[in-house]
Amino acid sequence: MEILDDFLGTLGNTPLVALRRYHPDGALLAAKIEFFNPGSSVKDRIGIAMIEAAERDGTLKPGMTIVEPTSGNTGLGLAIAAILRGYRLICTASEKISKEKVAMLEAHGAEVVICPVDVPADDPRSYTKVAERIRDQQGAFLPYQYFNQANPEAHYRSTGPEIWRQTDGRLTHWVAGIGTGGTISGVARYLKERNPGVRVVGVDPVGSVYAYFQEHGRLPSPDELRLYLIDGIGQSYVPESYWPEYIDEVVTVDDRTAYRAVFELARSEAIFTGSSGGAAVHAAREVARRLPAEALVITLLPDSGERYLSKLNDEWLRERGLLDG
Ligand SMILES: Cc1ncc(COP(=O)(O)O)c(C=O)c1O
Repeated sequence: MEILDDFLGTLGNTPLVALRRYHPDGALLAAKIEFFNPGSSVKDRIGIAMIEAAERDGTLKPGMTIVEPTSGNTGLGLAIAAILRGYRLICTASEKISKEKVAMLEAHGAEVVICPVDVPADDPRSYTKVAERIRDQQGAFLPYQYFNQANPEAHYRSTGPEIWRQTDGRLTHWVAGIGTGGTISGVARYLKERNPGVRVVGVDPVGSVYAYFQEHGRLPSPDELRLYLIDGIGQSYVPESYWPEYIDEVVTVDDRTAYRAVFELARSEAIFTGSSGGAAVHAAREVARRLPAEALVITLLPDSGERYLSKLNDEWLRERGLLDG
C-alpha cells in the first residue's frame, strides 16, 4: 500500500517548475516550489532536522519544551515535528508576523509570544532575548536556527541533492533569498562540491546587511539599516547559519519590486508565492536576462502567498505605497 507513516513523509522532493511565461527568452529559469512541503514552506526541512540533531546529541529529551524565535515558517516546521515527536512548542515572534502565521501556529497547539519589532536584537524585549529567557526559566530547548548548523546542513543533505538530481547536474546559477542563510548556504555548498563552476547569487532586501557584508567584508553602520516589508529575508547581523564562503554575489531587491513580482508571477505562471519568493524570482530573472540560452538558473520559492493574504491585497499595499499608479 502507498501509505506514508506520518505527515513528515511528505517532506521534500518538491517540484522544480520552468518559468517560461515569466521569463520567455534566453536562459531557462526554473523555481523550486517549497509550499509543497507539509507545513507549506521550506522551513519544514529544518524543523525536523534541528529536532533530530538535538535528540542525537542529547540536548533534547522526551517531554521537553522547545522555544524558538521565528517569523512563523520555522515555527510551523518545528510545530509539525514537535507534534509528531511529542514535544511542547513556544514561539516568540516580532510584531511583523502575519495574523495568518499566528493562527497557524496556535491551530497546531503552539504558544505564540509577540514582541516589539523596533528594538535592537540585544534589547531584553526583543523576540530573541525573550526566547532565551523562556529557555533559561523553563529548561527548554532553543534550536536557534540562526546559530544551528543543522539548519544549513539540512539543505546540504536534502534541498541541494534534489536540485542537482532534478537538473541532471546541468544548472549554472543558484539564486536564493537570505534569511538565516541556511537555504542558500547548504544548497550552495552541495552544488559547488559537485560543480565548482555553479555561480551562487544571494538576494537581500534593501535595508538589510548581507549585500553590504558581501561587498565590504564588514557590517554597515546601524544608521544604514532600514525597515523593509519583505517577509522572511534580510537581517541586521551575519548569523552562523550563513556560510559566506559559498556565496559569489549578493543583490538587493526593494519592497515594491518584490511585491510587484509576486503578482506578476501569479498572473503569468499561476504560482502564488510570498514576498521573499517575489524578491528571489525577480532577482533570478535579472540574472537569467544577462545569460546565454544554454544557462540554467534555479531559484526557490520559500512559501505561498496564501500565508500573507492580509498583506497581499490592494488596501495593505496602497497604504504602504507599494501599488503602481
Ligand atoms: C518566508 C521566508 N522566506 C525566506 C526565508 C529564508 O530562508 P533561510 O532562512 O534559509 O535563509 C525564510 C526564513 O527565514 C522565510 O520564512
